[in-house]
Amino acid sequence: MSTEHNVVTLPSAAHPRDTLGRPLRDLRISVMDRCNFRCPYCMPKETFHDNYRFLKSTERLSFEEIYRLTRVFVGLGVRKVRLTGGEPLLRPNLSELIGELTALEGVQDVALTTNAVLLGQHAAELKANGLHRITVSLDTLDPAIFKRMSGGFAELDRVLEGIQAAVQADLTPIKLNAVIERGLNDHTALDLVDRFRGTGIIVRFIEYMDVGNRNHWSLDRVVPSRELLQRIGERWPLHAVQENYRGEVAERYAFDDGSGEVGFISSVTNPFCGDCSRARLSSEGVFYTCLFANAGLDLRTPLRDGSSDGQLLDLIRNHWQQRGDRYSELRSTLRSGEQPLRKIEMYYIGG
Ligand code: GTP
Ligand code: 5AD
Ligand code: SF4
Ligand code: SF4
Repeated sequence: MSTEHNVVTLPSAAHPRDTLGRPLRDLRISVMDRCNFRCPYCMPKETFHDNYRFLKSTERLSFEEIYRLTRVFVGLGVRKVRLTGGEPLLRPNLSELIGELTALEGVQDVALTTNAVLLGQHAAELKANGLHRITVSLDTLDPAIFKRMSGGFAELDRVLEGIQAAVQADLTPIKLNAVIERGLNDHTALDLVDRFRGTGIIVRFIEYMDVGNRNHWSLDRVVPSRELLQRIGERWPLHAVQENYRGEVAERYAFDDGSGEVGFISSVTNPFCGDCSRARLSSEGVFYTCLFANAGLDLRTPLRDGSSDGQLLDLIRNHWQQRGDRYSELRSTLRSGEQPLRKIEMYYIGG
């Protein structure tokens, strides 16, 4: 891929910090705005219907553009890359991009978030191209609730086969992300633990968040992590374990009997903005400094206008240096029912 661009790397002492002193370490790249699911909390069918206008393929960043931007981000301190969507496996030839990104000097971790429907057919190829690990979104093992929470997709078995293919391809550690919504799937949370305890697969429970503008979020649908922790701990005693890295999103708990761990992502009841080093790139090349941002910086125009790597680096660095986002921490200060400014949609920015 593009060898004509020289990378501009900064000595680590010159890596930018935002206005709250946070470095730029993780880049989450959405490679596809489309999805083969219609999870009501993310892409509700009434909005994302058959005539919804998704991006045209020419509007999405090409692999070459993604690669080039990633190199620039690495020059600014990024060490972890996660590919997201929509559903990233809907992007044709995704493995080619993975091959390029995993070979990029400075990148230590390349992960992929998927709903696993297409994982059975792609796991081996992803591994062969250097992908390090997989995270699968799976909210429940109850077929009827699964169908409801995926917006009508009925083949839970295909998802489970996809997870099995990831195990066989050794795309480890494999994590499962389960969004828990009160009254919908909270009573099935323990089944996930029961099924995956002892397999090496790490189940992580995510508090239902007020992402986007269209998912009819309300606080009473959030199950606080401490409530789930208590319910799980009553059945399988647990103890807290130290985070794997500074700013880890999930709080980890290991089973006392040694059969693995579970995680809790508590963006609502225990926000983790203080250490947030995550940048997000939408599939059309807009750079966002927060999952809940209402505006971002367009990088596609300068990319396509012939800007140099040095110019792109300056743009990104300046934008990061102005960052003061801490939406999840501020959420609790909003009055009940009050909505912040219009936010970006989750399907568009990835998770
Ligand atoms: P690891 O590198 O495996 O620790 O992954 P991760 O936990 O950083 O990323 P993952 O994509 O698995 O995150 C899981 C979920 O946590 C996402 O789908 C979001 O729901 C939530 N999440 C991740 N990052 C953020 C963030 O920066 N802010 C908020 N509010 N939620 C986040
Ligand atoms: N609340 C919490 N997590 C969400 N995700 C999508 N929408 C929400 C929401 N409203 C998560 C999904 C998936 C990832 C892409 O984003 O669980 O793992
Ligand atoms: Fe698709 Fe994931 Fe959004 Fe569900 S949560 S609609 S699988 S992008
Ligand atoms: Fe980072 Fe924004 Fe999430 Fe806070 S709400 S952790 S600043 S992405």
